[in-house]
Amino acid sequence: MKYTILLIGGGGREHAIAQSISQSPRCEKLYVAPGNAGTKGIAFNIALDTTNFKTVHEFCTSYHIDWIVVGPELPLVQGIYDYFKDTEIDVIGPSQAAAALEGSKSFAKEFMATMDIPTARYQTFTQETLSDGIKYLESHPTPIVLKADGLAAGKGVLILEDRQEAIDELKLMLGGKFGEASQTVVVEQFLSGIEFSVFVATDGTDSVLLPEAKDYKRIGEGDTGLNTGGMGAVSPVPFFDASLQEKVNKRIIEPTLRGLQKHDLDYTGFIFIGLIMVDGDPYVIEYNCRMGDPETEVVFPRIESDVIDLFEAMVNKTIKSHTIAIKEDAAVTVFSVSGGYPGKYTKGIAMTIPDHPESCHYYHAGTQAIDDTIVTNGGRVIAATAFAADIPTAMRRAQEAASLIRFEGQYYRKDIGMDLLQYLPRA
Ligand code: AMP
Ligand code: GLY
Repeated sequence: MKYTILLIGGGGREHAIAQSISQSPRCEKLYVAPGNAGTKGIAFNIALDTTNFKTVHEFCTSYHIDWIVVGPELPLVQGIYDYFKDTEIDVIGPSQAAAALEGSKSFAKEFMATMDIPTARYQTFTQETLSDGIKYLESHPTPIVLKADGLAAGKGVLILEDRQEAIDELKLMLGGKFGEASQTVVVEQFLSGIEFSVFVATDGTDSVLLPEAKDYKRIGEGDTGLNTGGMGAVSPVPFFDASLQEKVNKRIIEPTLRGLQKHDLDYTGFIFIGLIMVDGDPYVIEYNCRMGDPETEVVFPRIESDVIDLFEAMVNKTIKSHTIAIKEDAAVTVFSVSGGYPGKYTKGIAMTIPDHPESCHYYHAGTQAIDDTIVTNGGRVIAATAFAADIPTAMRRAQEAASLIRFEGQYYRKDIGMDLLQYLPRA
């Protein structure tokens, strides 16, 4: 059977997912809402208010949509899966209750505690328990991690060196610094180690492991400066060896799936598990209820098998007997961002993007096609992904590919992947 698909989102992640879907002979037609200048070439971009599920439903009925594939977390946390549950249309994404693994950090921590999943020690506080929170912080080792419970556009995590500063921030957060998102605050033990992420496609009972990745969140080289939506990513992660993989499977992925059953959480989608390796052992930093961006721009192109077969196995709950083929090649992506990002920046700047250099692919994010010109339309503009037999070659190619893109104010990090070189076998 062939499928007509609506993909929700308009970033580099969605361009990469759209690319994989559009390559499948089982794709009848692909719509992307809203999409970007990159998805325009391979799918039909449509303007839809994707937080208005009634409008989405009307569109799906008129255009005979079989599946809705959801890129970002917001529609999932708002319950798009549940809205379509009793319709003919299948949503690839978790139920609202399951999306709380991302939408509520305190829920995720409780979930991990009941399943004995390794994660940083924590306590949760609200305005009512502020005085307990202050007492707790007074004897807490530093640095101290404070997390707004709800979605805060990637800004809700503070790492503080000073106890008094942490107490002041706790008061500010509970007083509404991040609006409703920080009415509950999770105070966490700081973990020191190297971060990486694993991704599984699940039908709620079983899962398939996708390629792992490491992303680079800070604006500056050497991981300095402000946090961003992601400046680059690498897959595979060279220290994710068989022994670490076994630990992640047994201690994290398997109990997470058992936890979904135990808590009766309906899940047809991707689980993105943000991990940190401390003394060789993996700990969960966070769950996300979707794929990552920019991780998808290195993970999806490494999936060799048909992604529609994978989506079908998720929807039909046959993941147990499903396997995927993964390309041996390494992938590195380097994001070009607007001048000023993650602070103030200007949109609408004309760009020139060359044809894909050999073994490279440009995934559009903040771009827009206006007639025959492409202009910038966001902070993170375009991801240059390169493939090669080894990480250093892919790194070099991705840098070259990024350097060929031109727009005023363009900035990209020159050190994506550098910290991983120490884990590679010496030539
Ligand atoms: P989160 O939104 O929970 O992923 O947190 C954002 C970032 O803050 C993570 O990617 C980590 O770099 C950092 N972080 C979060 N929790 C911790 C922790 N317990 N220890 C050290 N760093 C953390
Ligand atoms: N790259 C981190 C995220 O997608 O949340």
